[in-house]
Amino acid sequence: MRKAVVRIILVGIVLFLLSFLFKKADQYTSTDAYCNSCHVHEHAHTSWMQSPHNNSCEQTVHCIDCHLPPKGQGFYKEKVKAGLRDLYAFYTKDSTDFNWQQKSQVDFAKHHTFEQSCIQCHPKLFPSDLSENGELAHWHYQQNKEEMHCIQCHMNIGHGTDKKASHNITLFTKQHKKDTIYTQAANSIGLTAFIETIPGSDIAFKMLPVQGEANNTNDSAAIQSFFIGEIEVSWDEYLLFLSETESEGRTEHNQVDGISGATPPWGNPDQGWGMGRRPAITMTHHAATVYCQWLSLKTGKDYRLPTEAEWEYAASKAIEKEGLNSQLTNTNKTNTLEPNAVEADGIGARHLFGNVKEFCSDAFGQSTKEFVIKGGSFKSDIKTLSPSFRESTQHDNWLKTDPQIPKSIWWYSDCNDVGFRVVLSYHSNEN
Ligand code: HEC
Ligand code: HEC
Ligand code: HEC
Ligand code: HEC
Repeated sequence: MRKAVVRIILVGIVLFLLSFLFKKADQYTSTDAYCNSCHVHEHAHTSWMQSPHNNSCEQTVHCIDCHLPPKGQGFYKEKVKAGLRDLYAFYTKDSTDFNWQQKSQVDFAKHHTFEQSCIQCHPKLFPSDLSENGELAHWHYQQNKEEMHCIQCHMNIGHGTDKKASHNITLFTKQHKKDTIYTQAANSIGLTAFIETIPGSDIAFKMLPVQGEANNTNDSAAIQSFFIGEIEVSWDEYLLFLSETESEGRTEHNQVDGISGATPPWGNPDQGWGMGRRPAITMTHHAATVYCQWLSLKTGKDYRLPTEAEWEYAASKAIEKEGLNSQLTNTNKTNTLEPNAVEADGIGARHLFGNVKEFCSDAFGQSTKEFVIKGGSFKSDIKTLSPSFRESTQHDNWLKTDPQIPKSIWWYSDCNDVGFRVVLSYHSNEN
């Protein structure tokens, strides 16, 4: 009898000690210090320090507050799962295999950032001090809850300096280092490569000649000679366009030299990959068309989007000799690349295939709002690419998570691999 009592007491003590240890272990593994013992890379730690969730005077929001669900809603299950995943990866995988950039993208981050936790701390979707933009956006969220996640609009709240989900206006006020300011556009005479210079800026880009189908000049369907951009329109050029035509409104009322102004984008239109000579992306087909009009006004030439036939013709010439190989193509699945990352093709162009899909002027089929896009992107499989490979824009899908009402006519919210290249007809009998 006495033995039994002693045994029960001993078991009790052991259980108490175990639960104490478990509690300690749980506490320890819930601290920011524990998470940061591995997550020292810039994104996770420093950026969290700068985010509104750490700088607020009221409360510091800890790693596990966002990266685990609330207690009672699967906290321990997710904690064990994530803990094992992190430990296993830490001790077995090569750290260069971790793709942090991918884990930062909405589609992926949805799986490791828990919406219930956002809602636990932010139960009111319509607080009294919510701005008008916020009201529209949250109303939209409420209608599309199943498809949406808070972080689609609040990407930077965990690890960013951008304080609010608002238009990225700083993009437009960025000052260019102006070393040489071009005073006039290029004077192109023959069917040879030339450097176009945008007057009033330090921006220049190269145009390449494409000899048309000389034998069939009477055939109206024959391709006439033209020039095509060496590279896709880059952020350098596109930002100049944006800064000169900027408008805060959503409609087309703001006219600059007859060109209606683009609104600033939400968030980072470059997806954080960098700007400069990388292709500008995520603009709508409409925006690309307006860019061509603007460029034409600036240079006194007739820049436009290529027709599908022209694009295909140039692309066939480009790979006539060497074929399409990985030196000419970016299908890395993760991001866009700078032009020099690949070799020039048979006509001297770069990234006709892969990198970003390129808009053509042709409508897709009978559609009034979809257009032909050519060349595939960094997401494509190189085996599927060829001059004749064609895809269609997906207007509605690409604007699904745009919080604006009406939806943006300037930026696709849900497509990060589309851009464009400009062309120019060659008129041999002029000049
Ligand atoms: C032992 C080191 C270690 C610790 C401690 C650690 N992590 Fe991780 N974590 C990793 C590694 C390694 C990966 C990458 C896993 C992979 O790619 O397979 C990772 C991935 C992640 C991811 C991305 C999730 C995904 O689906 O890939 C998040 C979010 C994360 N950790 C949050 C945390 C939080 C919050 C804590 C603190 C509770 C924490 N980590 C503690 C090593 C650690
Ligand atoms: C307010 C919510 C919030 C808090 C607090 C938070 N995160 Fe995150 N975290 C996010 C979101 C949203 C993303 C995806 C977007 C991004 O990467 O910025 C993310 C992405 C990550 C990733 C994957 C992407 C990458 O670049 O590494 C890791 C790892 C991570 N967080 C770790 C941490 C750690 C460690 C802490 C604590 C120091 C922390 N997080 C605190 C919301 C949060
Ligand atoms: C532990 C509680 C907590 C969690 C979890 C949390 N937040 Fe917050 N959030 C706060 C606090 C506190 C503030 C600062 C309030 C203030 O400064 O007025 C804040 C601020 C914000 C702001 C305003 C930022 C600004 O610049 O004013 C947004 C947007 C936001 N949170 C969204 C989210 C989203 C999305 C998630 C889920 C990924 C999330 N929060 C998770 C507590 C939390
Ligand atoms: C469709 C985009 C969108 C979605 C989805 C969204 N928000 Fe917002 N949110 C906004 C906008 C826009 C604002 C206003 C920002 C401003 O005016 O600076 C805002 C503001 C906020 C604020 C700041 C409120 C204040 O008083 O200033 C918080 C907190 C917040 N959102 C939390 C959330 C949470 C939690 C979720 C998910 C349940 C969510 N949001 C989903 C776009 C969105």
